[in-house]
Amino acid sequence: MASWTELRLVVPRGLADAGSELLWELGALGVQEDYLPGEAPAPRQPWDRGSPPPEPPRVLLRGWWEADAELAQRELRAKVATWDQVDPPSLHPVEEADWAETWKQGITRVVVGRLAVAPPWLAEPGDLIVEPGMAFGTGEHPTTRRCLEAIERLARPGGRCLDVGCGTGVLALAAARLGMQAHGLDIDPEAVRIAIENAELNEVEASFDGASLDSLPAGWDLVVANVYGEVLVKLAPELRRLTGGRLVLAGILADREDRVLAALAPMTVQLRQQDGDWVWVDVSDECLEDPVPEAFHDLGKFGLDDVGDLIFFCEHIIQLRTCCG
Ligand SMILES: C[S@@+](CC[C@H](N)C(=O)[O-])C[C@H]1O[C@@H](n2cnc3c(N)ncnc32)[C@H](O)[C@@H]1O
Repeated sequence: MASWTELRLVVPRGLADAGSELLWELGALGVQEDYLPGEAPAPRQPWDRGSPPPEPPRVLLRGWWEADAELAQRELRAKVATWDQVDPPSLHPVEEADWAETWKQGITRVVVGRLAVAPPWLAEPGDLIVEPGMAFGTGEHPTTRRCLEAIERLARPGGRCLDVGCGTGVLALAAARLGMQAHGLDIDPEAVRIAIENAELNEVEASFDGASLDSLPAGWDLVVANVYGEVLVKLAPELRRLTGGRLVLAGILADREDRVLAALAPMTVQLRQQDGDWVWVDVSDECLEDPVPEAFHDLGKFGLDDVGDLIFFCEHIIQLRTCCG
């Protein structure tokens, strides 16, 4: 039976996203955030009152590699050497049967508006089926999910969508499902192979290859790039040239956002969202099309409980001032 390796990293809760990103960056096929043994809070009972107890201060991050992960362990150790309160990463062999079961428990069916992405054992009719563990992009990762939300919002039937760093092809397949002509590319030939297989499996028309960005024509209505901030900075001139409509970027850690946006100037931010350490932006060459989104035309609908919506509205106005002066 094939064996797998689990690389474990224990970090303060505030560094959980940055730690997960490092595991993905170093080539993990799956990453999971867990409680340390004995620290999982007791399940809340219907009769429990008051606020739930605070989350434990540290989290256990587990990343999985097929076969050996010693190189990843060494690189991870070097990268977290300057982090406070981080234990040295440790390796643990895992039998495939155990790994498969652990993996499966963490996978859910992800529904984003008209789109649903699921592993074969959870798929419902009409879902995009993506087998986890083959390449990055099952809908589970927050950056993939946010890109799916953007595609759901921005897809226009007949328009053209380019998925830069396609992984499993999930974003291009989602755009194609919503009527766009979609093309995905990846520097990893294995990802391209898997994306083509996924298009066939799902009977979706989308093309994938390993072409470099400078070989592509400009004028894509929607470009999505869920790749890490550093890569986005390098690709920025090509992304600017290729985007004829909206460019959706994910995979940016908050402290690298300024560098990414500076590299894309004079493109302007149309929408910005942040969840913990992760930032998502839609950028384009235009000023904001609709200064006040439809959702906010009737401000009277807000009650005191709509704090999240009001924060989003204020952020939008700040973007408007930045964009239109
Ligand atoms: C975070 S995964 C995103 C996969 C999928 N698009 C999603 O949203 O889940 C990033 C992908 O970008 C690819 N990648 C990294 N650098 C790239 C580059 N310079 N050009 C094209 N693809 C790249 C990686 O091989 C990887 O498959």
